[in-house]
Amino acid sequence: KRVAILISGGGSNMVSLVESMTGDHPARACLVMANSENAGGLAKASALGMDTDFVDHRPFKGDRAAFEEVLHDRILQAQPDIVCLAGFMRVLTEGFVSKWQGRMLNIHPSLLPKYRGLHTHARALEAGDAYHGCTVHEVTPELDDGPILGQARVPVLEDDTPEVLAARVLEQEHKLYPAVLRRFAEGDRTPVKIGF
Ligand code: GRF
Repeated sequence: KRVAILISGGGSNMVSLVESMTGDHPARACLVMANSENAGGLAKASALGMDTDFVDHRPFKGDRAAFEEVLHDRILQAQPDIVCLAGFMRVLTEGFVSKWQGRMLNIHPSLLPKYRGLHTHARALEAGDAYHGCTVHEVTPELDDGPILGQARVPVLEDDTPEVLAARVLEQEHKLYPAVLRRFAEGDRTPVKIGF
């Protein structure tokens, strides 16, 4: 299986995914794509020997469909079987998602269905939750929705700040996403559970 990975920032999840696809793993990364040439993850991907590309979303202003048309065509050139959103911070329209539905995954830093959207760690702290974590799900047109393929749970500690909690969750993201991708690539949809 060929896997394209979409990033916006540092790409730590991308690195974990790329490094997991070795040996008898049924998948290999075929492209790392960003929505900005300044995405720090592009240099990391190149250092890992990855083909990289970027489509800057800014020239398209509010025209999401036009941006996504270019993005889609570039991704198609890599002929992926699976697309992994990994710290990809652009909302994708139904038009784009429908072209990849059933073959596109995303990692979100909360125990969905709790805390869709942004600032998930601060919201979990604000709510006084005893646990927090991350979720990998199939991407559907509804934001941070879609069938859950795996979750990792961490305790929230007394003096946690959003940054400290985010770091604890991110560490689990790096375990969860590769585990889910391997199962997904093998056609196994049994949810991965870590820390439950
Ligand atoms: C992190 O906040 C992570 O929780 C979320 O995207 C952000 C950046 O991740 N998935 P990465 O280091 O770019 O993978």
